[in-house]
Amino acid sequence: MNAVITAIGGFVPSSILTNKMISETVDTSDEWIVKRTGIKERRIADDDTATSDLAAAAIENLIENYNVDRDEIEALLVATATPDHILAPTASIVCEKSGLTNAFGIDMNAACSGFLYALEMGANMIESGRYSKLIIVGADKMSSIVDYEDRNTCILFGDGAGAVLLERTESENGLMKTILKTDGSGTSSLAVPAGGSRNPTSMQSLLHRTHYLKQDGAFVFKRAVASMGQVSQDALAKNGLQSEEIDWVIPHQANLRIINAVGESLNIDASKVKVNIERYGNTTSATVPLCLWDFQEDFKEGQNLLITTFGAGFSWGATCLKW
Ligand code: ACO
Repeated sequence: MNAVITAIGGFVPSSILTNKMISETVDTSDEWIVKRTGIKERRIADDDTATSDLAAAAIENLIENYNVDRDEIEALLVATATPDHILAPTASIVCEKSGLTNAFGIDMNAACSGFLYALEMGANMIESGRYSKLIIVGADKMSSIVDYEDRNTCILFGDGAGAVLLERTESENGLMKTILKTDGSGTSSLAVPAGGSRNPTSMQSLLHRTHYLKQDGAFVFKRAVASMGQVSQDALAKNGLQSEEIDWVIPHQANLRIINAVGESLNIDASKVKVNIERYGNTTSATVPLCLWDFQEDFKEGQNLLITTFGAGFSWGATCLKW
């Protein structure tokens, strides 16, 4: 018994933040951002829109386009690093908004690897035989934790959500073996220092802007390239696949230079590596499902996909799946 993706949905806000617009508020330029990251623009949600709204919109898109019966959904896994609230769970809010009255909902935070982690959990739930239909959504309103006065981070991120329906199948298609990795020694290199139990929001945190995302960009960059390359090789080996047998790579979209370096390390031609970072930036938990959504017409039955991610934690991983 396998778990297979049978439907995909996506949503990005209509409001576009271009590099030129950012360069009007911090010392940067369109040329620098495109050259160093590959990003041209990103979508930004308005003040009234929370992560749950992005997630619910992606689920609505999936349900409508694929004619899914919401009553059959048994579980909703919400991968997000920007929950609506610290408490209650965003998944509860999304279940309510999406009319998933027969599903239980749970949040999962593994930053940019959150969707892949949730996919692995969902696949295991299905392969155990205890569940047959669930939705996994990756959703982030990164603009809610980005400091638009910090040029090191504000150029990178955008808002969005992507969702997949995971179902049981008796066929050969579906998710193969996955490798997930965690290295907590990387926590301080990429984090929102304040706002949690370690350092609750205070006048001090507001003053020092530590309720916003901070990162050591160059260090994260090096770790991302090395980790995604290695874990992808390991996932291919674990599934008995050669890189020539991969039809499409779906990498986490953090920086085009990271994506290109990972493709090169795997010896996979750039034409097989899916990229939409130029339009959406890094949407954290949403980049992988947004790529699946964006490029779904290209995936043909029986083709092999490789998904690989890297994010805060550090958290990273890779999986293969037969479409
Ligand atoms: N515009 C112009 N100059 C800039 C900008 C900017 N937006 N940002 C940084 N610089 C400057 C720096 O100040 C530095 O100047 P200096 O040499 O005078 O000190 C110079 O550019 C080079 O800085 P680097 O940090 O070395 O630049 P780099 O080429 O590494 O690019 C970047 C920076 C884009 C942040 C890159 O390191 C990166 O993408 N890192 C990965 C980040 C990432 O993936 N983070 C998210 C992970 S996913 C998650 O879980 C949320």
